[in-house]
Amino acid sequence: MKALILSGGEGTRLRPLTHTNAKQLVPIANKPILFYGIEAIRDAGIKDVGIVVGDTAKEIKDAVGDGSRWGIKVTYIKQEAPLGLAHAVMISEDYIKDESFVMYLGDNLIKGGIKDFVDEFRQNTPNSQILLAKVRNPERFGVAEVDGGRVVRLVEKPKRPKTDLALVGLYMFDKNIFKAVKEIRPSWRNELEITDAIQYLIDNGYRVESQIINGWWKDTGRLEDMLEANRILLDTLKTEINGIVDSESSVEFKVVIEEGAEIIKSVIRGPAIIGRNVKIINSFIGPFTSIDHDVRVENSEIEHSIILEGSSILGIGKRIGDSLIGKNVEVYRLDKKPEFYRLMLGDYSRVGVF
Ligand code: DAU
Repeated sequence: MKALILSGGEGTRLRPLTHTNAKQLVPIANKPILFYGIEAIRDAGIKDVGIVVGDTAKEIKDAVGDGSRWGIKVTYIKQEAPLGLAHAVMISEDYIKDESFVMYLGDNLIKGGIKDFVDEFRQNTPNSQILLAKVRNPERFGVAEVDGGRVVRLVEKPKRPKTDLALVGLYMFDKNIFKAVKEIRPSWRNELEITDAIQYLIDNGYRVESQIINGWWKDTGRLEDMLEANRILLDTLKTEINGIVDSESSVEFKVVIEEGAEIIKSVIRGPAIIGRNVKIINSFIGPFTSIDHDVRVENSEIEHSIILEGSSILGIGKRIGDSLIGKNVEVYRLDKKPEFYRLMLGDYSRVGVF
């Protein structure tokens, strides 16, 4: 059995971060989202992993390499344009050949791994097995109608969903899916939809089974989802302090402090993670905050936020919360009159001021 991770696509909902970065590489609790997927696949006992990449191919290859770090073998499959999930499957046929495979969407997080689902697929050998989750906003997902365990109908992002069962970004297929992806036509959004390909399997008498996922699952396409995923993953950390905490600082609840980090005259209230070589000076880092490596925070307060590598937050009078700050960003206090906000923001940036 092989695995196919989809890491192409555009990531428009996470601009401006995704102008320069692959959305699958945004770190949650200081680890790229994609790595959680790779680990779940490895833990399910799969060693051959194809990764579909698009415009951000170089960045993904630099981050993942040949997979030896995880004891797997990674093969990259270039998709010329994000023409849909079923298109990604179509171009992967030469790699998959006639094996069964797991398809994992590189921006999805599934807590507790995927081993049980993969084992069930291996045992029952349906032609396809999908995962469903009850959601409050089914119109943002592929939506399923089921009869017992049997899937009757799948619709991609319906305006008026008939159920609240969303398709989770984990699918299992045997070789018949390659026939299906060649038969379907592009949708209204001009993509070859995997939902349509699975519907083709259903309509042509193939066995498509579903399982409801009970643990949490997140499609991390939007800021709110990133922050929620960050919250949930930070809560699973165990305290580990490898950096320096001076005698005037305190570290409370679950906190990871990575090597080379220095906490000076500050309070870190977990769950939180402070990355390599970070300096926190005279500041408060509140719950549910991930600070990636080489960040500097001075005379400031941050909570429920994700700060990416190389950024600095200096002398900010009000607490920063519910925020995602990109790489090498500078947020600092102006000390000369007149008083105003001096902004240099990339396209599609969002700033909330009070
Ligand atoms: O997250 C679950 C949802 O994922 C399902 O409920 C939907 O049925 C399914 O269509 C998909 O919807 P999204 O609109 O959220 O998919 P997105 O465009 O975000 O792509 C998912 C992943 O696949 C992402 O890592 C990018 C990658 N991708 C996407 C496309 C369209 C590719 O590698 N190639 C592509 O052509």
